[in-house]
Order: sequence, then structure tokens, then C-alpha cells
Amino acid sequence: MLYLLDTANIGEIEKAAAVFPLAGVTTNPTIIAQEKRDFFAILKEIRAIIGEKMLHAQVLGETCDEIIRDAEALQEKIGGNLYIKVPVSTEGYKAMPRLKARGMKVTATAIYTPGQALLAANCGVDFTAPYLNRIDNISGMGVTVVQMITDLFRIHSMPTRVLAASFKNVQQVNDVSLAGCQAITIGPDILWHLAEHPLTDMSIEQFNRDWRAVYGPGKCVY
Ligand code: E4P
Repeated sequence: MLYLLDTANIGEIEKAAAVFPLAGVTTNPTIIAQEKRDFFAILKEIRAIIGEKMLHAQVLGETCDEIIRDAEALQEKIGGNLYIKVPVSTEGYKAMPRLKARGMKVTATAIYTPGQALLAANCGVDFTAPYLNRIDNISGMGVTVVQMITDLFRIHSMPTRVLAASFKNVQQVNDVSLAGCQAITIGPDILWHLAEHPLTDMSIEQFNRDWRAVYGPGKCVY
């Protein structure tokens, strides 16, 4: 399963990328707006940090033509291993196959139902992004929806992958991992919660104390 970081905060991306084998970074208009800086400048800085790992950036246009124009601008100015995020609106579905025909990689986003995901997969998108926590907020069915989407893609032999998004806790991450989605995108807080545990820190401290009690203050075994 691939781990992506769901943020446009440069400091957080640098910190996480220095430690974890991230598959890339995802952004959306809300995440970008939190940084209060130029859209393309932020994306270029992210690209410089993550190199050719995946960068998912969302269009703002609402009509099919506007979506295509936004996607072309992103492709031209950012390029590389770029995934154009397109919400599954009526115009979004229309734009998806057109973007694929232009050779772009596409992530269908703002997905709340298995039906939306299967339709987007039929439009030829590379990833579908169901919003787990937002689904949980209205129905508690977030994990079930992700499970249904992964099952549907397998049953119908769709090459589209599932990039589960919108997480508020590690339990949701554990549950969708078991559901078999191919990728998740999580905020820095969730990533560090997944990685760290106070008992791990206590265990390491205990190892060091026990070692030093016998072998002295030397820090390494060599
Ligand atoms: C993914 O890229 C989504 O835009 C994002 O995960 C939504 O998360 P939120 O529900 O925490 O805003």
C-alpha cells in the first residue's frame, strides 16, 4: 500500500519525506488556501522536495472546458509525475476521458459512493479518492464504501486504483488498509501518530539504560 501526504505545508513535507518512503503528496484547494501563497509556487516547491514522486493537484474549473484548461496549465507549469484531481461532478466525468486522451494522469476526487467510483473508473481515471472521514461523518460507512470500491474494481477487472482520503484517526487507516485499497493519503499528524508510540520510546530508553549499566556510556555497539 502506498502512503501519500495530504498537505501543502512545505515544512511538514520536508520533515516527513526525510523519514518515510512516501509515494507522493496530495493537495486540494482547501489545503493550498491554508498556505496563503501562490498556487504554482507552492506546487513547484513540493515538486522540488519530492522529485518524481506523485503529486496530485486539483483543478478549480467547473465546466469541462475550464477543467481541461486548468489541467493543461498544471501540466505545463508543474508537469512530471503529476495527477490531475478532478471532482466527480457531471462536468468532471465529461472531462476525465478527455484528459486521459491528452495523455494526462487523472485522480477522480470527492467520491462518496461506490457508484461514483465505478463510473469514474469507466472514464479511465488512474485513481479514485473516496473521502473516508467525511463519509463516516454522515453515515459511519466510510470503510464499507472503500471496501465496496476495491471489491468492485477487482470484480470488474478495472485497472483504476483506490486512493483513500480524508482521515481523522489511525483506526480509520488500519481499517481501510485491511479493506485492500492500494493507496492512502493522510495528514502529517496521522502519519506521525501511525509511526510513533510512547511505549516504543520507553523501550529504547530501557535498552540504553541496561546497556550503559554494564558497558558504560559508549553509544554504539562498534
Ligand atoms: C484528498 O486529497 C482530499 O482532498 C482530502 O483528504 C480531504 O480530507 P478532509 O476531509 O480532511 O478535508
